Amino acid sequence: MVNDAKRVLVFDSGVGGLSVFDAIAAAPHAFELDYVADNAWLPYGLKTDEQLRARVPALLSRVVEQWAPEAVVVACNTASTIALEPVRAALKIPVVGVVPPIKPAAAMTQTGVIGLLATPATVQRAYTSDLISQFAADKTVIRFGSAGLVQAAERKLRGEDLGTAEITEAIRGLFSAPGGENIDVVALACTHFPLLVEELTAAAPRACLWMDSGAAIARRLASVLVAQEGPTRVHRAAFTNGHAAHTSLRAFEARGFGDFSHIDEARDFRAEALTRATAV
Ligand code: DGL
Repeated sequence: MVNDAKRVLVFDSGVGGLSVFDAIAAAPHAFELDYVADNAWLPYGLKTDEQLRARVPALLSRVVEQWAPEAVVVACNTASTIALEPVRAALKIPVVGVVPPIKPAAAMTQTGVIGLLATPATVQRAYTSDLISQFAADKTVIRFGSAGLVQAAERKLRGEDLGTAEITEAIRGLFSAPGGENIDVVALACTHFPLLVEELTAAAPRACLWMDSGAAIARRLASVLVAQEGPTRVHRAAFTNGHAAHTSLRAFEARGFGDFSHIDEARDFRAEALTRATAV
């Protein structure tokens, strides 16, 4: 059989992109998937726009040069809502970004009240406000920004105790806001948050629809690359903080990754082998 799997690099600040990876891997298309996490800079949601607009294109340019994927998925809302333009300018291949799922949330709400959960950076971005004006102008959108939920998702995928503080704070931030008792759809506009959907669902005071962008990205990727149907293969994962990555490798191994690298920033983002033997 001809190997026509399209090679795709999935990028996030940490493990959040794995929620997008899972949606791409669940799609029927033949992809060969690599992953890069800028975990030395996690959380992106507390970085400035200027920092992200400089760092993300520089990092991705180097990794794309070394790994030569056919497309990049910026599986991070915080980066997509501010740095897609410079990333596209820096790369010669298609770049697919994540869009906060405000349009589908507006289509699904029965009460007309939508919750929007994202990082502190994404909730206040002009990009987010524009999406709300465009697709949810006749709805009430209650926004809550949480950097704590990003760390909670990281802890969960490390197999550590999740605790309840960040989940409780986010649920209170949405449902205790004026009008919040009527929220029936929550748009998860940070790719870390679908990894916590069970905990969020259990803590919410009412049944809601929790929407993320994973399946939409998988469809967009297949269309951009004109991908054929076939099995997905999983290949490499690289981290800007190799030491911290060791505790998360289990989540990557569980998804079929077996080749890990550390991206050395001092050497202009060069990827170097990371093995379990170097774990402390
Ligand atoms: N997963 C990311 C997002 O979708 C960023 C989380 C962070 O690093 O703050 O926004």
